[in-house]
Amino acid sequence: MRLLVTGGCGFIGSNFIRHLLTTDSALSITNLDKLTYAGNPENLADLAASQSSRYEFVHGDIVDRSLVESVITPGRFDAVIHFAAESHVDRSILDSGPFIQTNIVGTQVLLDASRKANIGRYVQVSTDEVYGSLGPTGLFTEETPLAPNSPYSASKAASDMLVRSYVHTFGFPAIITRCSNNYGPYQFPEKVLPLFVSNALADLPLPLYGAGLNVRDWIHVVDHCRGIEAAWRKGQPGEVYNFGGGCELTNVELTHRLLDAVGKPRSLIRFVTDRPGHDLRYAIDYSKAQRELGWSPQISFDAGLRDTIAWYQSHSDWVARIKSGAYRNYYAEQYGTRLASKPAAP
Ligand code: NAD
Ligand code: DAU
Repeated sequence: MRLLVTGGCGFIGSNFIRHLLTTDSALSITNLDKLTYAGNPENLADLAASQSSRYEFVHGDIVDRSLVESVITPGRFDAVIHFAAESHVDRSILDSGPFIQTNIVGTQVLLDASRKANIGRYVQVSTDEVYGSLGPTGLFTEETPLAPNSPYSASKAASDMLVRSYVHTFGFPAIITRCSNNYGPYQFPEKVLPLFVSNALADLPLPLYGAGLNVRDWIHVVDHCRGIEAAWRKGQPGEVYNFGGGCELTNVELTHRLLDAVGKPRSLIRFVTDRPGHDLRYAIDYSKAQRELGWSPQISFDAGLRDTIAWYQSHSDWVARIKSGAYRNYYAEQYGTRLASKPAAP
């Protein structure tokens, strides 16, 4: 069995490739990745060396039609698992251009090439953010109407709609998965959890948006990877499957939990200007995945957080290399003036 994975040098894609190559010896994987600021071949360097007969890397852009068509040739892959995306909401607010190109045009190119090559199964890795924002109660189901609020989520919803249209119009065998907030090893430290863990370990301020009362549902990345694998192996073409961790926390609760876990004071928190259009709450009903795929999350937040913190502690070089590059310009643009505010009371 041979898979094409796009975006496999990013956070979830690299965990997915690691998960499959270490649990299924009959699989071979080709990873197509542009290596944007978020793509890091270091994430898979050990597997690239130890599994060289089962792992192939292709450096390329999913927007590049001729390149994609030269990779996805008839008979070469049994399935395509599509992770590649611009994935950070705050960057989409600074500049939505790359999100439209990669997330929408790139998905269209991949769908066309996959259809042309008669690919037997295509999985679109999407997000709960396409459903918009919840009030204090209720859960997103697969039937919740799409109501994206950020340029990022709008571009993901547009790509989901393209996938839907290829299923409906061409009978293309695609499945869409929608998951809540992931955390775990290899997450780029622009997302809140690795940003706050790495800042706290370095005694740097933690910039909490608004009053810190927005709610996210946290799932360990390995549980998400198991869900995508189940959708690929057992899901029905044309169906959508939600995944979540069943662990809702306000951002302030999350921050307190991680500060306690690393043994750092709450005085590191800085309440800063809110994210424009900040979605209040995400929460997932994943009963369809439980029922139809036999999937449920296995890793408790306490155990997952402990392991994730230990991973960042033992990979301080990985963090330092990222934080020393172009990341500094992004950090200055995103947080420079906001962090001038006063610290929170301990
Ligand atoms: P990430 O930003 O860590 O990684 C994205 C990867 O895609 C990088 O390796 C990057 O180099 C690659 N890429 C970007 N543009 C490309 C292009 N034009 N051509 C080829 N490769 C390109 O993202 P992530 O957090 O791992 O998210 C992966 C997928 O999962 C995304 O589609 C995202 O929308 C979705 N998702 C993420 C979360 C989350 O919590 N992180 C939750 C649900 C769904
Ligand atoms: O829900 C799934 C989505 O989760 C994925 O589709 C996205 O790719 C992923 O980035 C994530 O989106 P969020 O916007 O929820 O994640 P982020 O880590 O950026 O922010 C989580 C919460 O923390 C959110 O309420 C904003 C807040 N936050 C974030 C940052 C970066 C802060 O308070 N301060 C920060 O510096």
